[in-house]
Amino acid sequence: MSQKTFYRRRALAARLTKLITQEAVGSAVASGVFLTAPRRTGKSTFAREDLRPALEEAGALVLYADLWKDLTKEPGAVIVETVREAIGRDEKLISRLAIAPGLEAVSVGRVNFNVNKIGLGKEIGLTKAFEALSDETKKLIVLIIDETQHAITTDEGVAALFALKAARDELNSSKHYGLRIVCIGSNQSKLATLRNSSDEAFFGASMVQLPMLDKDFIDWYCKGLDLPHDLDPSDVFQLFQESGCRPDLLSAAADDIRFDFTVGPKAIVVRLAELVRAHAEALNANLRTVIHSLTPIQSAVIRVMGSKGEGFAPFESSTMELYAKAIANAGIATSEPKVEEPDVQLALMALQEKKLVWKTSRGVYAIEERLTVDVLRKDGLLDDLV
Ligand SMILES: Nc1ncnc2c1ncn2[C@@H]1O[C@H](COP(=O)(O)OP(=O)(O)OP(=O)(O)O)[C@@H](O)[C@H]1O
Ligand SMILES: [Mg+2]
Repeated sequence: MSQKTFYRRRALAARLTKLITQEAVGSAVASGVFLTAPRRTGKSTFAREDLRPALEEAGALVLYADLWKDLTKEPGAVIVETVREAIGRDEKLISRLAIAPGLEAVSVGRVNFNVNKIGLGKEIGLTKAFEALSDETKKLIVLIIDETQHAITTDEGVAALFALKAARDELNSSKHYGLRIVCIGSNQSKLATLRNSSDEAFFGASMVQLPMLDKDFIDWYCKGLDLPHDLDPSDVFQLFQESGCRPDLLSAAADDIRFDFTVGPKAIVVRLAELVRAHAEALNANLRTVIHSLTPIQSAVIRVMGSKGEGFAPFESSTMELYAKAIANAGIATSEPKVEEPDVQLALMALQEKKLVWKTSRGVYAIEERLTVDVLRKDGLLDDLV
């Protein structure tokens, strides 16, 4: 079985490890660190292949929860499971928890303890579980949550984040060995909703923009490409940047020409560029089809959301007027369009179902993907909507 190899970003991992593990006076990292970068640019790969090993090397115990790994699972449950798994791996810890105050004594010898007792509203809450993990391992614990924005779409997910906040504050006291929570996501405004209001779990956490894969990555990538002719990495790097630094686009294009023996050494870079653009276009074309199949009110709502950005307030009277303007702009209304709140409510639900829009359990809305906003803007659908 061939194992996929990755370009290692050691220097970046070392820098972030330092940021996460060291606590400079006045630093906000103890509140949490948010790592963001656009979709498909290598966040999860970096977290798994580079950051996790670097943190472990620095002596931390790393737990990794991917909230998108299984979409049928409640995000809160995924976080709890990650903690259970870490505890389940350590027999000593299990016995420590089994004789925690408030639980029935256990028989000597093999400990009779079920990790399912750990969880939100269970006998052993997350704070207690993390305390045990901290005291037993005597290590700084780093919990990496990939696709964190998913947690705030459900009540249980929000409850898990608040439980983590309590655990974090307890573990960062002088009694234990510290807990750092690293949240990863591609949409900065979604992550910002977790961070910005003082009653949110991660108020004041640091937001770090993860750099894009760089020229060294492209040098490494070109060496391993195995195409009929060599490519100049500078050309490929330019193409990579033009296409949003998404390795998948390059790989899909490279696969298309790998067995094309008709393409000559000079033409290969031109052909690669055409194919990368074609693949990027195909992604946009799918999205355009969805956007152009929306009803007038759904289309108006998403366009107003796109033009308002973070300040979008769905039911304010100025927003309601903008919906009407958007419908009129599109030339689809026969008379002065009238938009009512229930129409907007229904449109928002439909947009969520189509995965164009994301909603927190508290009713804050955002466009699911940055690409959607780019396509709307490119097609002139955001013009004149302020
Ligand atoms: N360092 C790397 N070396 C080789 N390939 C990489 C590297 N980083 C990312 N890739 C490739 O790029 C693609 C996207 O990577 P990844 O899934 O890590 O991105 P992501 O930002 O987490 O995406 P998403 O927004 O979907 O969560 C994958 O096919 C991955 O194999
Ligand atoms: Mg990812």
